[in-house]
Amino acid sequence: MRKVASGFSPVIAVERRSKKPLHKQVYEAFCAAIVGGSLRAGQRVPSSRSLALELNVSRLPVLTAYSQLIAEGYFEARSGSGTFVSSSLPEQWVSIRQRAATPVGIRSGRRPVSKRSAAFPDFRGRPWQNRWGAFVVGQVAFDHFPVEVWSRLVNRHVRNPRVSSFHYGDPMGSHTLRSTIADYLRTVRAVNCDAGQVMIVSGSQQGLELSARVLLDPGDKVWVEEPGYRAGRSVFAFAGCRLVPVPVDAEGLDVSAGVKLARNARAAFVTPSHQFPLGVSMSAPRRLQLVDWAQRSGAWIIEDDYDSEYRYESMPIASLQGLDRNSRVIYIGTFSKTLFPSLRLGYVVVPPDLVGRFVTIRHSMDLCPPNLYQSVLADFIAEGHFARHIRRTRLLYSERRNVLVEAIRGEFGTSVELLGAEAGMHLVATLPKGLRDRQVSQQAALQDVWLWPLSGCYLEKPQTQGLILGFGSTTPKEIPKAVERLRAVIESQLGAKISA
Ligand SMILES: Cc1ncc(COP(=O)(O)O)c(C=O)c1O
Repeated sequence: MRKVASGFSPVIAVERRSKKPLHKQVYEAFCAAIVGGSLRAGQRVPSSRSLALELNVSRLPVLTAYSQLIAEGYFEARSGSGTFVSSSLPEQWVSIRQRAATPVGIRSGRRPVSKRSAAFPDFRGRPWQNRWGAFVVGQVAFDHFPVEVWSRLVNRHVRNPRVSSFHYGDPMGSHTLRSTIADYLRTVRAVNCDAGQVMIVSGSQQGLELSARVLLDPGDKVWVEEPGYRAGRSVFAFAGCRLVPVPVDAEGLDVSAGVKLARNARAAFVTPSHQFPLGVSMSAPRRLQLVDWAQRSGAWIIEDDYDSEYRYESMPIASLQGLDRNSRVIYIGTFSKTLFPSLRLGYVVVPPDLVGRFVTIRHSMDLCPPNLYQSVLADFIAEGHFARHIRRTRLLYSERRNVLVEAIRGEFGTSVELLGAEAGMHLVATLPKGLRDRQVSQQAALQDVWLWPLSGCYLEKPQTQGLILGFGSTTPKEIPKAVERLRAVIESQLGAKISA
């Protein structure tokens, strides 16, 4: 027999000693829930059997109430699937509900929220964020993900769960996954660590949030790259820190400029392997200079190593953390680029003496990471699928990058400059003089080309107008056509033809 899904029941307080019959009480409770909007048109209601059980009454009064509700058009029975609030409710109930929809007691205007929340700029989904189409930044080659292998591993853990996997876990995360990640980081990223220092978090974002909570106080100065990663910067701003934008040049963050601006900063937030968004790698002298400044001034370096697996023209660059002999670096990594962002799994490598603090504060945030995908990922890495996937996608992204660079050169010649095309899954194209990147992004979005304006990455006045193009999920077939559409947008904004 087909199982019929059960719906939620509204609050029904049956009073057995009341003179009102039980079926009338049930009937009225449903009418009130529909009028009050707690049950919506098309929503499933519980079966008569499960509601009777829930209310601890016999099934008869529930059946009588349901028959009446169906007869009057409030409910509809769909054969084989259950009973639902009618998708076309009687007119008078709908109008009563619309009147009731304005919440009582809410006056117009903003109601007070915390000062730090009120001071924070609204999150507005820009048209170029979270879309599907050409050049969306942050998207990976989803169609090349080994779904079958992944599903097999998910099934393995869903079908044979350990009792312990149902309970709260270690706030540091699964030990198996942590030691797998420690092996990987030591070998591939030259990170100085063991499993005891690796904490599993829900993506870099939580790693940053946690680091800010553990290390920084409101009013502390934090160096951030200018231009830089907005989502990361916002964590420190929300923690009440004073952001100090430090310029990025061809060698990465300009440490001397940082020292001039705020020698006494408490932390520096950097992306040394592949600066976001400009794509430069921090030079060795700058790395040493940064580590030296941190040691002398007692500051922390928060290293966001988000996509270092993908380098196309040289060997991967070792982590900054591996250079540091004074445990001043908090190293953060993610599986958002190598696997997929909705996985929400990343890691923080914590200096040994800070592990206790990180555990305490993490516990106060979300207790511990969820178990299932940690186990799946540990197997995925241990069985070699992760290394294989990275090798495969490195070739794939390298091809996409080559096609994109060629298409841009073909359409724009030297009228745009390309930055940071040697690594990662995005590059920057500077715009010809006189163009505003926001306007270009807005117009391009209408042509199904989704680019981030570079100016959004600046905290202060943008030094360069440019476009950030992600190529992770855009196929070599789509790229040339999308670049052609971009050229038409840019020419219409320029009011002139571009000579390629
Ligand atoms: C600089 C930088 N850091 C980190 C991330 C990944 O963040 P998360 O791990 O929270 O998905 C991204 C994603 O685009 C990024 O650009």
